[in-house]
Order: sequence, then structure tokens, then C-alpha cells
Amino acid sequence: MKLARTVEAVRQAVRDARDGGARHVGLVPTMGALHRGHYSLIDAAGRGCDFVVVSIFVNPTQFGPGEDYQEYPRSWQADCAGCESRGVDVLFAPSVEEMYPEGFATTVHVAGLTEGLCGRSRPGHFDGVCTIVSKLFNAVGPDVAFFGAKDYQQAVVVRRMVADLNMPVRIELCPTVREADGLALSSRNQRLSPAERAQAPALFESLRLARELVAGGQRAAAEVVAEIRACLERRAPLGRIDYVEIVHPDTLRAVEEIDGAVLVAVAVRFASARLIDNMLVDPSAPAD
Ligand code: PAF
Repeated sequence: MKLARTVEAVRQAVRDARDGGARHVGLVPTMGALHRGHYSLIDAAGRGCDFVVVSIFVNPTQFGPGEDYQEYPRSWQADCAGCESRGVDVLFAPSVEEMYPEGFATTVHVAGLTEGLCGRSRPGHFDGVCTIVSKLFNAVGPDVAFFGAKDYQQAVVVRRMVADLNMPVRIELCPTVREADGLALSSRNQRLSPAERAQAPALFESLRLARELVAGGQRAAAEVVAEIRACLERRAPLGRIDYVEIVHPDTLRAVEEIDGAVLVAVAVRFASARLIDNMLVDPSAPAD
């Protein structure tokens, strides 16, 4: 595995790979502290591509003031070993100065899709994400980029950006990986206290409840939201609900009547970490 610290180095590595016959270059953009969720993206890239680049960059511009940029978990040695053992070809780990040199003045903004859900509670977050993801795409030039469904809004926003800016890359959305108790894997989970960790599966439980209610015939989104909120308040009293929303999976606009597939999305703030989760719920799907 090659380690690239600069845009020029990663470009050269990908150029060499293409010159050597690589036809499908895959990129897995990450902020490190890799877990099984990231590795499932890397494995998907390995299956679909003949050259795999993983980026590790804790992107300061997507953290708001007072958010956890400094405290964001970092595990460089373990990440390197994990990537190496999975056959990653290039690990791209630039410095902040490399990505945001003196005089940097550009922001990529996707309108509309970024206004609700996490965009509402984290103003500017998606500008930071779109800016860094554009830069990573320009540096690596991947044919396919892999994103996890836990950050569903992020993937929808990035797809919009890619379409609007004619970026020649396909966005692959991979399923959320969960702990045995349902908690969606996230680098931030390791920051939870034992008591918070015990309550964190409530997010997934509340989403399962939503799915059951819809399967049982409930079509009023407000009723489902109220039940989710009650479940979270009961099962995760250490958390503060940030949002519970039921939205159209493509437009991310709130729906009132569940008459087709919807995205049910929740965010809960614990003292040590803010957690998000979501589930696609389709009223026409058979109950399992
Ligand atoms: O999902 C993440 O880890 C980040 O938002 C990303 C896509 C790597 C951009 O910094």
C-alpha cells in the first residue's frame, strides 16, 4: 500500500495505475477512526474496482464552532494496518495545509437538499462536506466513490453535486453496518459513556417501531413521528432529540401522508456525541 500525503502524489499514483491498466478506480472518503462500516465500504470498492484509494482527512470545514473537531477520534496506526490488510492500493492522508492552503477561498454549496435534517442543526456542515468531497474527487479522479447509508443525506447531497457539476464519478450507497444491538456503527460511538452506550440502540429501536407502525397501516407521518419521539424519550433519557423527520427519499422534503417509500431519520444528542440513524420505510413492502 502506498501512502500519499499530497494531491500531486495521489494523482501520480492513480495515473500510474491507469497507465498500468487499471480501469475502475474506487475512492472511499473517510475521516479515519475506521470501523467495520468503513471496511464494508472498502470491501465493496475492492469487489467493484481494480484500484482502491482510501482517503483519511478530518475535514475542519465541516465542523461548526463548538463541534467536536478537536475531539474527533483518531487512530492512525490501526487505520493504516486495517487498510493494508484489506488490500487498499493508496492511502491518501493529506494535511490541513495541503487541502486548505493559505488564501483558500472556495466553497461548494448545494441548495435545498442541505436545508433540513442535519443541515438545519449543523449550519455550514454540508458546504464543508461538498467542498472537501469535490477536492478529493479532483485529486483522485475516481470512477466510483463509496458512501455509507447512515449518512443518507450526505450521499443524496453529494449525488446532486456530482450531477450538477458534471463530475464523472458514480456514487455508490452501501448499507449501514450495525452492532448486534442495532446501534449504527460510527466513529463517534467510542466517545459514548457506558450509560449513553446502553441507551444508544434506542435510535434503531425507534426506527423499527416506525416501520412496524407503517406496516400496520399507519399513514399519518405526524403520528409516526410522535411515537418515535415517545420511544426515544423513554429509552434514551440521557439523550436530547435533535430531530425526528419523515421525508421523501429523493427530495428530503417532509411528507405528511406516507403513500410511498419514505426516509425516517433521527438525530439524538448525548453529552459525549451526537448520533444519527435512518431507515427507508416502504408501505408496500411486506412486513418482516
Ligand atoms: O462521511 C464522512 O466521513 C465525511 O463527511 C467525508 C465524506 C469523508 C467528508 O469529509
